[in-house]
Amino acid sequence: MAHPSDTRYLVAPGGTLRGRLRVPGDKSISHRSIMLAAIAEGETRISGFLEGADALATLNAFRRMGVRIEGPDGGEVRVQGVGMRGLQSPDGPLDMGNSGTSMRLLSGLLAGQAFPVTLVGDGSLSKRPMRRVTEPLAQMGARIGTTEGGTAPLDLAPVARLTGLDYTMPVASAQVKSSLLLAGLYAEGETCVTEPAPTRDHTERMLTAFGYSVRRHAAKVCLTGGGRLTGCRLTIPADISSAAFFLVGASIAPGSDLILEGVGINPTRVGVINILRAMGGDIELMDRRTAGGEPVADIRVRHAPLRGIRIPVDQVPLAIDELPVLFIAAACAEGETVLTGAEELRVKESDRIQVMADGLAKLGVCAEPLPDGMRIFGGALGSTGDADTIDAPSIDAHGDHRIAMSFAIAALRASGPVAIRDCANVETSFPGFVELAGSAGLSIQATRG
Ligand code: S3P
Repeated sequence: MAHPSDTRYLVAPGGTLRGRLRVPGDKSISHRSIMLAAIAEGETRISGFLEGADALATLNAFRRMGVRIEGPDGGEVRVQGVGMRGLQSPDGPLDMGNSGTSMRLLSGLLAGQAFPVTLVGDGSLSKRPMRRVTEPLAQMGARIGTTEGGTAPLDLAPVARLTGLDYTMPVASAQVKSSLLLAGLYAEGETCVTEPAPTRDHTERMLTAFGYSVRRHAAKVCLTGGGRLTGCRLTIPADISSAAFFLVGASIAPGSDLILEGVGINPTRVGVINILRAMGGDIELMDRRTAGGEPVADIRVRHAPLRGIRIPVDQVPLAIDELPVLFIAAACAEGETVLTGAEELRVKESDRIQVMADGLAKLGVCAEPLPDGMRIFGGALGSTGDADTIDAPSIDAHGDHRIAMSFAIAALRASGPVAIRDCANVETSFPGFVELAGSAGLSIQATRG
């Protein structure tokens, strides 16, 4: 049953996505832009910053540590960097909201500071595993307290110094890699992280843009502590993880033809394009260019009949946040799609395997959750029913932004309306989703309690 304070989506079935649109700035890059600008020397000007709750949690945390930040105003932010040792003790716990990236990256960046700090988060974030960062950080000399279960709140005690570490990650995680590299800036000697599979490399690219030397040898990335960052100008591309909803939507909705402008196409993020193309998707990259050290393109996507595939395991880290909406593509494809090697989906903002399987079942799709993935049999999508009262049957997004938007997109091929509850957190990554999707052709209405 819906709670009266829910944000719910009611999406009418069918429709076609057409036109040109620009989705908001990249969330991963927005977080990093504030973090590095804050500890750089001099001013950094950022454009294309994502004004969503997650990136704003990072921004507010640095304000509370004494960093002067103007904006965001239309995606423009100016940060007056305080240098490596210029952060000040905040006057209380720093609230990371729903944002795993803020908490894990900040635990690294703050591990070597001379003041204590506590990082807290919302109900979902407080259940997510933090030992993956606190344990290697402890090996560097950090003193970080967690709950018994290894979750937030994280209590960081001041330490005299950190020492470099040569660490091989057990899971392919850009958040863990970035956390350790950020701690490595404050460590004596060299910090190296080896990844079991390639993960997003925005931290490495951006450190280079701030003039900090980062070395990569195959799967190993290293830096030496004690250097300095110099403020710069950054342009943040549109977020491919937000574009993904439209890439899938236009692929599944007959008659669709959409251009998505200025989307980041970093090779460590393009799994969604690779997977959709392998399923038969019609996706064209136009006007390729570079912005702020990141490759960017306009993406044209047209409707195409999709077929089920076995998703290559090497694509999983490259599409980790796009897998929920790719399940919708699979549900609309001919034949079976199988995903394995994606157990990480169970510890995201929700258990994305179970929550997607439950929602797909509500739409009559045959989806079998696996411990590390999903098996989906493509076919017709049903509906949650056509009642639009607060207690009408609905799909539960469990407060997970990407689940809510995935099922909104599914309505393009549903037999009747799709109602989704607990959608407020779409604001964490995609402010304006309802309006933008509406302008492209989705008949979506939000009701806020
Ligand atoms: C992110 C890394 C990924 C991703 C998350 C953002 C980042 O998490 O799912 O949304 O910005 O580094 P993991 O490192 O847990 O895979």
